[in-house]
Amino acid sequence: MSDEPRETDSGQSSEHPGSLWGTRFDGGMAPEMVSLNRSLSVDSRLWREDVRGSKAWAQALRRADVLNPNELSSIITGLEGVAHRIEREGFGAAEEEDIHTVVERMLLEEIGSLGGKLHTGRSRNDQSATGVRLFGMAACDRIREHLLTLCRALHELALRGLHLPMPGYTHLQQAQPIRAAHWALSHLFAFLRDIDRIEVAKDAAGVLPLGSGAVAGCPFPIDREALKDELGFRQVSPNSIDAVADRDWICDLLYTGAMVGVHMSRLSEDLVLFSSLEFGFVRLSDGFSTGSSLMPQKRNPDVAELARGKSGRLNGNLVTLLTLLKGLPTGYNRDLQEDKEALFDTCDTLEVTVPALAGAIKTAQFVPGKIESVMDSQLFATDLADYLVNKGVPFRETHEIVGRLVRLAEQSESPLNELSLDDMRREHEAFEEDVAEVFDWERSTEVRDTIGGTSLKAIQEQLEEVRARLAGSEKGKG
Ligand code: ARG
Repeated sequence: MSDEPRETDSGQSSEHPGSLWGTRFDGGMAPEMVSLNRSLSVDSRLWREDVRGSKAWAQALRRADVLNPNELSSIITGLEGVAHRIEREGFGAAEEEDIHTVVERMLLEEIGSLGGKLHTGRSRNDQSATGVRLFGMAACDRIREHLLTLCRALHELALRGLHLPMPGYTHLQQAQPIRAAHWALSHLFAFLRDIDRIEVAKDAAGVLPLGSGAVAGCPFPIDREALKDELGFRQVSPNSIDAVADRDWICDLLYTGAMVGVHMSRLSEDLVLFSSLEFGFVRLSDGFSTGSSLMPQKRNPDVAELARGKSGRLNGNLVTLLTLLKGLPTGYNRDLQEDKEALFDTCDTLEVTVPALAGAIKTAQFVPGKIESVMDSQLFATDLADYLVNKGVPFRETHEIVGRLVRLAEQSESPLNELSLDDMRREHEAFEEDVAEVFDWERSTEVRDTIGGTSLKAIQEQLEEVRARLAGSEKGKG
């Protein structure tokens, strides 16, 4: 018997059982290398995409006259058999290195050596890049839906806070009166930008690598435009080297995920604070609150803490991928196999976290009495300065005058709105009886009537902008 490695019946190497490339090697792969080399536990979830891409490739080979009609139909039937088998039995004790190898082995088991024609002109480099993009495009659609649900929930929350005053904060110190709707909308607009981002990521994913081979393209007359249409891509990749090495779209998706994480964590931080006894502005529903195993009274905002916590891994995944890509030489490098864990983790994290946060927001209630009880009359200090401005006093002076009044109020342990007219007139004679009207949240919010401001009209315009945008996104679906 020759000591040359032999082809087995399935066309795979006997020295490298289950591999697609073993015949040029003497001896098998070292066990330590086998473990490092394997990606099946991660990429097995791409089996549907792999089968779908393979069916489209078989059609392309037929159109290029590489397969005859009978061969095409056997391969398609075989791939369908593979799909049924995976659906029924999973992967069993598959020992292959990746999902592409498993699907090919199963195809050979279904239809015999004819299955070996499927890989003509194709490499796992363009094959895996295609499968992961198919996954990515569908994931972008799902994530976009979840973000829309979150935006709708924030829109409803804003409506519940339309006529509700609340302190607006800077430095987490009470600053100026706002409507609670304004606060809810501030978070909503951030998530609308994330919807733009996920659409950009989906477009970036929609470039077809299949037909690029390992690096140098395909020697058979494959109609890549037809392949693109069949697989639902937007565009054919224009350069075969770039096609097998480009993971920019994953960076776009992971960046979007990181931004969603940042926005979720900022909203969550507000919810944690606002649902505390000290603030008490918001009450999360029972369904989104958790208790303590020790302290019977506890009502914890775990949904918000978990959303805040999950943002860490979303940031981490982006950094993982950027670091992975930096400094890679031209063409496909095996490093690129590591793209999937970060991608899957970001998609999975978003798909669990965004709906939970949306549910918490949808069922959250403002607590008007509590908000009202903490609104300090110093919130109107700027309005007081503006009052004098309207009497012709330069703002710089009015700022100083009101600063002194605030100090006086603090020294006499009196709320700002309870200083006497005489106290005020000692600082400036332009103060008159009507100064009392300044200490009114509705007046204060109404005068801020420029675009993006706090007046009812300005808020209603924001709500309308959001409503139109969400309705348009519904229509633009798919
Ligand atoms: N599993 C690999 C990946 O996900 C594809 C295999 C390409 N392997 C190779 N030796 N060129 O990137």
